[in-house]
Amino acid sequence: MGVSTVGVVGAGLMGSGIIEQSARCGYNVVAREIDETAVTAGRKRVRDSMDRGIQRGKFPETVRDEALDRITWTTELRDLKACDLVIEAIVEHLERKRRLFAELDLVTGPHTILATNTSSVSITAIAAATKRPHKVAGAHFFNPVPVMKLVELVRALQTSDETMDCLRHFGESLDKKVVVAKDTPGFIVNYLLVPYLLDAVRAVADGTATVEDIDTAMTLGTGVPMGPLTLLDFIGVDTTLYIADVMYDELRDPKYAAPPLLRKMVSAGYYGKKNGRGFYDYANGG
Ligand code: CAA
Repeated sequence: MGVSTVGVVGAGLMGSGIIEQSARCGYNVVAREIDETAVTAGRKRVRDSMDRGIQRGKFPETVRDEALDRITWTTELRDLKACDLVIEAIVEHLERKRRLFAELDLVTGPHTILATNTSSVSITAIAAATKRPHKVAGAHFFNPVPVMKLVELVRALQTSDETMDCLRHFGESLDKKVVVAKDTPGFIVNYLLVPYLLDAVRAVADGTATVEDIDTAMTLGTGVPMGPLTLLDFIGVDTTLYIADVMYDELRDPKYAAPPLLRKMVSAGYYGKKNGRGFYDYANGG
């Protein structure tokens, strides 16, 4: 089955990137946010990101303008009715996701595939909230979505081959490399990435080195674009804690046990780049 219209629920950091990339790659997109304020913020996020792409010479203004024309913004879930594929990118909360999928199951056509961008919640549990579990799968993108070349597809226990084939084709059409993972905590990337990030926090707490030196060491020593603590700020200190807690709950492996410093930072409201303070202070330009 071909996809021509894509619905995206949630236009935060991840959702707005999925909206942009889908529209730029020629899909009609119905973008749904919870209220007008969130729609305005999402619309701005999409536009600002494409403006950055233009400034860096990635594509001309016409590409942005045509992409923006392909996006319909709405606050109504029922406007997703005609979508061939709906991708959910709301907060990481199992019950909220299950409720949303049960509603999507009612408002979308029987052919519609429902995908979730979750990085930590069980796809199998989300699929079970619908009467079409064979048409539900994970499509996990990476931040910033227009730049990062990967999408992890995650197969729930119930997902059909046809759904996986359709999502693979869709992922490749967004100019992404597709990998497939089982529905296990963290899939591939977070299964390996989260212990590394938590170890970096432990190294700070133990006084192994300064935040800056840990990041410099890992950037120059292993050739990654960002050190672990910059990356943690970028992903979100709160988001990382949430993912670690979900993974620890499932796996009971101490590798995923959040160090007290991470928890304290969240209690202090140091969420990272998004609110101006994490391991670094972004108030004066970082
Ligand atoms: N569309 C296409 N390309 C765009 C763009 C857009 N809207 N906006 C910017 N770009 C391009 C730029 O032109 C630039 O390309 P070149 O390098 O070829 O010139 C590139 O994207 C990045 O440019 P930026 O100006 O945005 O900034 P930067 O050079 O400082 O790089 C970064 C920033 C891309 C974030 C880089 O530091 C990086 O790759 N960091 C690692 C990010 C990462 O690991 N993300 C995954 C996090 S884990 C996750 O998301 C999953 C989870 O579940 C937690």
